[in-house]
Amino acid sequence: MSVMPDPFETSIASLLRFIGESRRMAGFTGAGISTESGVPDFRSPGSPWMQNKPIPFGLFLENPAARREAWRRKFTMDDLYRDARPTRGHAALASLVAGGRMTAVITQNIDNLHQASGLRDDEVIELHGNGSYATCLSCDRRHELADIRLAFEASGEPPVCKSCGGIVKSATISFGQAMPQAKLRAALTLSLESDLFLVIGSSLVVHPAASLPSLAKENGARLVIVNREPTPLDGQADLVIAGEIGPVLSRIASEL
Ligand code: APR
Repeated sequence: MSVMPDPFETSIASLLRFIGESRRMAGFTGAGISTESGVPDFRSPGSPWMQNKPIPFGLFLENPAARREAWRRKFTMDDLYRDARPTRGHAALASLVAGGRMTAVITQNIDNLHQASGLRDDEVIELHGNGSYATCLSCDRRHELADIRLAFEASGEPPVCKSCGGIVKSATISFGQAMPQAKLRAALTLSLESDLFLVIGSSLVVHPAASLPSLAKENGARLVIVNREPTPLDGQADLVIAGEIGPVLSRIASEL
């Protein structure tokens, strides 16, 4: 009597074969890679991120009360995830990059956990910015959150730029805010040049980020999706691993 192959083992074997045959692998991550770190994702049931309607960028610009509310929410969320550390998924991708298997990681995440796992700034392409610091929207000067928080909690007033008096915002991209063009171009180049595009922990519903896997695939790359839930691109993928990221990626990293 033949023993049915274990689907997990079959998927791991396929992904290892794809990686072995790849010369230019690109990583693409979403919030799913950070849930094991304690940072909830956006679209799993009960996500705290979705309890408040996002503050559109235009409202943030024109309305000081909206800026006050945005900063209040920011510091509340920061407190919830202050102790978040990179976990197995981040570590596995960092070892793939360090080992020369993966060129860089395109991420939608703003939690800085890829950098905290050891990836250099030039090995992470942040499409939606980074929430670990703030910048002036006029002169782009960087502002540290600790300083902003002290002043904000003392005065209740949203921060203004120390250099030019401009509006200061967390260095993340809000709905309605222009994406960082240089990063988008870098992500597009990496996607089009890749021969293996590995999607980790994204529902693939937010564009333009979610168009990158399809562009890579249309340009000849193999597409692999590791995600707990189905995504709109599963039908295009060469391999879908519907499971927990931690066990999958740590197994892959241990075999390479
Ligand atoms: N293992 C596998 N999959 C997981 C895990 C896990 N441990 N944890 C979560 N997931 C999956 C979820 O099932 C979900 O499909 O990760 C996916 C995360 O999807 P989203 O919450 O939609 O996050 P993301 O795709 O990164 O959202 C994109 O939307 O709100 C904006 O700017 C925000 O960058 C974000 C963008």
